[in-house]
Amino acid sequence: MHKQVNTIYTALILLLLVSCNDAADLPATVTFTEHIAPVLYNNCTICHRPEGSAHFSLVSYQEAKKYAAANEYVTRQRIMPPWPADPHYTEFTGQRVLDDNDIKLFEKWVKDGTPMGPEEMLPSLPNYPSGSDIGNPDMRIPVQPYLLSANSLDKFLLVKVPFELPNDTFASVIEFIPGRRNVVHHVNGDMVKYEFDKKKTVFEGEQILDMAADTATLLQAYQRLGLPNDDGTYPTLQKSVVNYLPGVYGQIYPQGIGGYKLPRKGAFLLNDLHYGFTNNESIMDSSFINIFFTPVPPNRPVKEFQLGTLGVAPVEPDMLIQPNKVKKVYSRYTIPADISVLTLNPHMHLLGKSFKAYALQPNRDTIRLISIPNWDFNWQYFYTFKKMVHVPAGSTIVAEGVYDNTTQNLNNPFSPPKLVTDQNGSMKATDEMFQFIVTYLPYLPGDELISLDRN
Ligand code: HEC
Repeated sequence: MHKQVNTIYTALILLLLVSCNDAADLPATVTFTEHIAPVLYNNCTICHRPEGSAHFSLVSYQEAKKYAAANEYVTRQRIMPPWPADPHYTEFTGQRVLDDNDIKLFEKWVKDGTPMGPEEMLPSLPNYPSGSDIGNPDMRIPVQPYLLSANSLDKFLLVKVPFELPNDTFASVIEFIPGRRNVVHHVNGDMVKYEFDKKKTVFEGEQILDMAADTATLLQAYQRLGLPNDDGTYPTLQKSVVNYLPGVYGQIYPQGIGGYKLPRKGAFLLNDLHYGFTNNESIMDSSFINIFFTPVPPNRPVKEFQLGTLGVAPVEPDMLIQPNKVKKVYSRYTIPADISVLTLNPHMHLLGKSFKAYALQPNRDTIRLISIPNWDFNWQYFYTFKKMVHVPAGSTIVAEGVYDNTTQNLNNPFSPPKLVTDQNGSMKATDEMFQFIVTYLPYLPGDELISLDRN
């Protein structure tokens, strides 16, 4: 959140210049029950409620009043609700972006003295389910509980969640549910698929490694987790099957699209279970993974490729980010066949400043993919298009990232700044990464008409 601070002053000055505010659409008096609560309940309370991911609630009049000035500020700066992608570049499902009028309501409510309004006008709070965000799962697999001691700093864990099933089966959705939403920041998880006779037990080895405390290489870490087959070879890995960020639901695709084949023996590999810092209280987190089975085999399984660090196309010119420098990198990949793009996941760490990706068609026309003008390490969504985007064969997908390794970057983990590299795919937040994950289907005519929106 801090990083927006340095743009604040410019924004404030601009605001003063254009401050000939027209109040045309605004009510004479803005009240909590009539105007503010509807905006909060639609855009904020999914995280800002007692059981939510944010540390304070905005459900009641007293709470909203207490944070009225802060709310006015964070909405005007578009820091909240968190949605780093520029909605004017491309739009995605589940996007939470306030319109200008909502922002003015927060402002005018403060000016009007934060009145309560008629009690009977208060809308009811949306229903927030707890064990699952999307339905009744068929199976629940626990993640090994983890104790965060009091006053601990951010933790990045590599976690194995093993499972055995009576048969090979299919799943439509795999959903991660945090135990304690206010400490689980995000998860990116793959699935390890064993051939039945190659692994005696999936439950051997450690289940949780702390990537910052551990200097192990990824391969050593995999060994400690007991991931290899009994003969030392590696099982197959299906990428990005389970992802979580506060406020985001497990992705359900239309029938016949997506879905997973679950092996009898397997494990979820949470590459990056990010726990936030704790206050003066220790916290035990027991998260779990929900599986929704389906009899329908995934006849159009989701595929993916990844540009950049450890991907199909290298980072150019390189990932040596010198101290006190702002550095731009690229990764470019020409796709051999037509694809229908489903989701995008840009990934950088703490030095990230901005990110942009687009496809250059053979005829030189550009297809916009995503633009993140102010990189925010905390909000690394998997962005799902409202409708699949067709990218024709021979197009070059270009991802551009800018890193700020100066003292201007308030998220810079080193003071004074020092040389930062990607260490060949280290997952530590203090090393860097440049990755762009694209999930897609082989293109079929008409794909661009299919809605992926859940509403
Ligand atoms: C996807 C989850 C999510 C949504 C949606 C969301 N917030 Fe937040 N908000 C957070 C988190 C996480 C923080 C960080 C502080 C914390 O952990 O409590 C935060 C912080 C804030 C802060 C404090 C800023 C600071 O500098 O610490 C304010 C004020 C705020 N949010 C208001 C809002 C308002 C108003 C909305 C809706 C218009 C909203 N938020 C929507 C998750 C969310």
